[in-house]
Amino acid sequence: MNNKRGDDKLTPLPATANFLPQDDPISRTEDPVDQDEIDFVAPIEGHAASVADPNAKPILEVRDLKMYFPVKSSGIIRRTIGHVQAVDGVSFQVPEGGALGLVGESGCGKSTTGRMVTRLYEPTSGTITFDGRDISRISTRQLKPLRREVQMIFQDPYTSLNPRHSVGAIIGAPLAIHKVLPRNKILPRVQELLEIVGLNPEHYNRYPHEFSGGQRQRIGIARALTLQPKLLVADEPVSALDVSIQAQVINLLQDVQREFNIAFVFVAHDLAVVRHFCPEIAVMYLGKIVEIADRDTLYNRPNHPYTQALLSAVPDVKQAAIGGRRERIRLEGDVPSPINPPSGCRFRTRCPIAQEICARVEPPLLQIGKRHKVACHFAGELGHHPDRPVTAPLLGVDDTGAPDPGATPTTMAGNEPGYSDTWYDLERKTMASA
Ligand SMILES: Nc1ncnc2c1ncn2[C@@H]1O[C@H](COP(=O)(O)OP(=O)(O)O)[C@@H](O)[C@H]1O
Ligand code: SF4
Ligand SMILES: [Mg+2]
Repeated sequence: MNNKRGDDKLTPLPATANFLPQDDPISRTEDPVDQDEIDFVAPIEGHAASVADPNAKPILEVRDLKMYFPVKSSGIIRRTIGHVQAVDGVSFQVPEGGALGLVGESGCGKSTTGRMVTRLYEPTSGTITFDGRDISRISTRQLKPLRREVQMIFQDPYTSLNPRHSVGAIIGAPLAIHKVLPRNKILPRVQELLEIVGLNPEHYNRYPHEFSGGQRQRIGIARALTLQPKLLVADEPVSALDVSIQAQVINLLQDVQREFNIAFVFVAHDLAVVRHFCPEIAVMYLGKIVEIADRDTLYNRPNHPYTQALLSAVPDVKQAAIGGRRERIRLEGDVPSPINPPSGCRFRTRCPIAQEICARVEPPLLQIGKRHKVACHFAGELGHHPDRPVTAPLLGVDDTGAPDPGATPTTMAGNEPGYSDTWYDLERKTMASA
């Protein structure tokens, strides 16, 4: 297929009927990337890290969200023989104009969470409250206005843009579909958006294959910005790009976040990428959040063995954060299947400090600081994990996880989104507050 155009003449945008919905399930192109005629866009520099505003009201609240995909038997009668527990009870909040990082190895449920938040998937259970409204189970018709306010940026800039549509058609599609602008105003708006994302506004009638990976991701960002969303879910937006281009795209995202006060859920598979973008970060493992905290706490005093292992792979993290150790903490084995996750703590098959209780009792996501929650029976800083489970007295079990008839369990260990004003102080083993 050769759909490259030699002229740069202004042509009207294609008819609405040819537009692709912006959440098109990703078309593919095998076309080679032709970068010869593309101007290189200079990087944007000089960013300070985003800061959290603890008083900002939440634009997004996710409560006990689950997504179970059915596994079918083969044969003529396809019965459901199990479920992939892709996301199994996650809760979090994102403040207006804020940014939450979702981090974890491949397959832990990050994209599925993002796709539920944008309502590309309907959750199996749990609630998603966006701007004060429960959107977890709204109908296709009710979804249309939501599509204006919640947008997604996909991981792969090579497959997320329809190769048969010009950049102008791709970026202008949401404006036409939602009838936000009269037809003659669409092109100027497309050009304005191209300029915002650092592309030449005259290139609106070129095709995706004429752009480099970084430029395509800029087109994806322009498309996501078209309807001035309040929330953007960016699913590994730079993972497929060269390292040299990653920083430029992150800088661009940070610029648009500030400029338009957009809240972000920023998905990444390592902690290095979200570090400068997200004031709050949630670490996921096999469909659950295992630790969530403000940036400083998570990077300087991680309490979960999995976070500690992930952080040991980030080259420039202060060594204090991982107990002064220079060597990387290597996790043994593979991530287990989400069809049959391990009993108790899902991380136990790879955890270097697992004990008997870990196989028996699931650790609750316990708030252990002002803005810090962790799900581990032996929560503690690296090298300072307690010998006895901190959770046992709270759950009414003994050190092995067996029910303890003499105990008085405390029901403070929940899975609520956000943080409360009181928490469990691991050192003093009592409740604490600010
Ligand atoms: N549509 C689907 N049907 C069945 N299983 C799925 C589907 N989408 C994702 N999964 C499974 O759910 C788990 C989580 O996937 P995903 O959310 O894509 O993880 P991540 O984005 O963290 O890599 C994986 O085991 C994946 O194979
Ligand atoms: S609960 Fe047990 S297995 Fe899970 S992370 Fe903590 S120590 Fe490791
Ligand atoms: Mg993913």
